[in-house]
Amino acid sequence: MKVLGIETSCDETGIAIYDAKLGLLAHCLHSQVKMHAEYGGVVPELASRDHIRKTLPLIDQVMQAAKITPEAITGIAYTAGPGLAGALLVGAAIAQSLAFAWDKPVVPVHHMEGHLLASMLEETPPSFPFVALLVSGGHTQLVAVADVGCYTLLGESIDDAAGEAFDKTAKLLDLGYPGGALLAKIAEQGETGRFYFPRPMMDRPGCDFSFSGLKTNVRNTIAANLAKESLGSLSLQMRADIALAFEEAVIETLVIKCKRALHLTGFKTLVTGGGVSANQSLRRALQAMVAEEDATVFFPRPEFCTDNGAMIAYAGYLHLKKGEQGDLGIKVYPRWSL
Ligand code: KG4
Ligand code: ZN
Repeated sequence: MKVLGIETSCDETGIAIYDAKLGLLAHCLHSQVKMHAEYGGVVPELASRDHIRKTLPLIDQVMQAAKITPEAITGIAYTAGPGLAGALLVGAAIAQSLAFAWDKPVVPVHHMEGHLLASMLEETPPSFPFVALLVSGGHTQLVAVADVGCYTLLGESIDDAAGEAFDKTAKLLDLGYPGGALLAKIAEQGETGRFYFPRPMMDRPGCDFSFSGLKTNVRNTIAANLAKESLGSLSLQMRADIALAFEEAVIETLVIKCKRALHLTGFKTLVTGGGVSANQSLRRALQAMVAEEDATVFFPRPEFCTDNGAMIAYAGYLHLKKGEQGDLGIKVYPRWSL
């Protein structure tokens, strides 16, 4: 069984082919980051147009790398949501057209399910059941995962997603776009204890998150220090100190809620996914927590934490294997709950 995966939900065109016996045969990614950087964020119309330019050539490239022809493909999986409507439509239209032309089944995949399953592409995959921490630019969720397709939402962010908070804080610190990885990098130079930001929603039971207040705290801290030092901009060291304090607040919040989710479910396995799970400090903190809990944590490799085609091909494979498939028709779900 060989499944072609197509991911076009935001600003990355990701294509991959997953083989049931051999694993990932080939994958490639085109990032639009440079194109959107000058606007300080993703411009949806530009994103859609770039997916139109890149998707078919990348499918050709991946098929060549995997040394297969369309006849060898069992089915096609594409991200049907959530994401930018126009960007999703490009992937959906191409997936449905190829499925029609090649006479293959097609399966729509939920983007967050792709992130949830991404760590299963690693050499030592987690086994069910587990708690999944999904931390991306658009979502922050804790999910109890009993099996493929059996997902119970334990908690989620009531406002900004963790990645969104990283990106907005990076913007406040003049670090550029997309800010998550840049903020993490500058935080390495930060001095612990220079600043402290509250850990949101700790006093409330449950597994929900709130990150928008943190960004306001950072904004106020920047303003206060700018006024105090009458500087045109903050020194690099102060920005690093603020970045570190912000990162520590986000990480401690995530770790505490993950621990709570493990206790609630009684599960001993934690799995992460989404761009923020590439963060090395978060990984170290989660590893320390699970060691105390006698539990285990699994991470996707960093390139599969952020958006990619491999996780979509893999999720599609699992659904096709269960006999599930979509119907012909170009349907997308920009707001789609897991
Ligand atoms: O999963 P993803 O690629 O896209 C969405 O589905 O949204 O996640 C992108 C998010 C961005 O907000 C980005 O800033 C953040 O992940 N991110 C990071 C790191 N690498 C990417 N945040 C913190 N530390 C990182 N190393
Ligand atoms: Zn994503």
